[in-house]
Amino acid sequence: MKIAISAETEQGEPRVAATPDTVKRYAGLGAKVAVEKGAGVKSGVLDADYSAAGAEVGSGVVNDADIVLKVRRPTKSELGRYKPGALVISIMDPYGNDAALADMAAAKVNAFAMEFMPRITRAQVMDVLSSQANLAGYRAVVDGAAEYGRALPMMMTAAGTVPAARIFIMGVGVAGLQAIATARRMGAVVTATDVRPATKEQVESLGAKFLAVEDEEFKNAQTAGGYAKEMSKEYQAKQAALTAEHIKKQDIVITTALIPGRPAPKLVTKEMVASMKPGSVIIDLAVERGGNVEGAEPGKIADVNGVKIVGHLNVPGRLAATASALYAKNLFAFVETMFDKEKKFAPNYEDELIKATLLTKDGAVVHPNFKKG
Ligand code: NAI
Repeated sequence: MKIAISAETEQGEPRVAATPDTVKRYAGLGAKVAVEKGAGVKSGVLDADYSAAGAEVGSGVVNDADIVLKVRRPTKSELGRYKPGALVISIMDPYGNDAALADMAAAKVNAFAMEFMPRITRAQVMDVLSSQANLAGYRAVVDGAAEYGRALPMMMTAAGTVPAARIFIMGVGVAGLQAIATARRMGAVVTATDVRPATKEQVESLGAKFLAVEDEEFKNAQTAGGYAKEMSKEYQAKQAALTAEHIKKQDIVITTALIPGRPAPKLVTKEMVASMKPGSVIIDLAVERGGNVEGAEPGKIADVNGVKIVGHLNVPGRLAATASALYAKNLFAFVETMFDKEKKFAPNYEDELIKATLLTKDGAVVHPNFKKG
């Protein structure tokens, strides 16, 4: 049985799906491991590092692989190189990409979407949304600090006192919590908001102040799955009025708000941006899903009357080495479940992890969210 690590073909994707450490672990399962030439370079892993870990390195190594590991969904031309029946495991971004799903079905690969991993205890180690969002939250603060022309912590020096920067985090999921912790460590005065009541205590336990419209709707805003619901127009108006007053006084705003399967909620209006002091910075981590901030441009830093709106794409990729190391571990933990006690490759298609993530099999789209008819 052969596992191949593909080099990423998408522009702006520096991550890689395996590290020398996970290569050794796959070999420990009895698999032959092959890595496409140059696959790890942008994450700081050289071909020689993979060779030293026991992998074959070359071009065309994916052609006869039983499992292909990737970061991004394969393109049509990549699919043409895989053998029918091969497992392809990556972040698939399937919503709104029906043609790509059909291509994977037509190529007769068994495609798995890592982002559909259920958020249950057993699968925590395979949760790519968490591993990558955590890093994005950290990096958002680092990027915000870099774009901000002042210091973050309070400093009392002989030449005068520097006040601490005020940072407001909107959306307190995995990314938001890490952003709060990072901003606190860097000495900022931190406030945060979310529509899920469970976040209030989490925010306060990190030493930040919680700010939200805490009405009846707020008390019921969390789904059984732990995610946010789309809020009513009335709630959004009350939320906007509260945050508008607050945003005026902030130096850095970091937005991370998402609703599964929906466009990101617009939380920062043009008027709010205009109310901020020149030199302030907004980091919109939701920019790939439509953005939380009016005026945010994907892949750009927009300057609106001296307020910078940062819309970096693939923020985890801005920490490629760390992001790859964690993603590689997530993948290994999942692939390992497909081997039995005798180290025989025997995926159980009745397993809930496989059922939740499998998109295509035997020439058809099989995932319930995308099945036609
Ligand atoms: P996410 O990426 O879907 O959304 C980010 C945040 O935006 C959420 O906290 C959400 O409530 C918030 N949001 C949505 N609309 C908003 C609005 N209008 N205003 C302000 N905030 C808004 O969320 P993520 O990071 O995936 O976390 C979702 C939940 O899953 C959390 O409860 C988290 O603790 C939980 N979780 C559970 C895991 C497990 O049990 N294995 C692993 C990771 C997360």
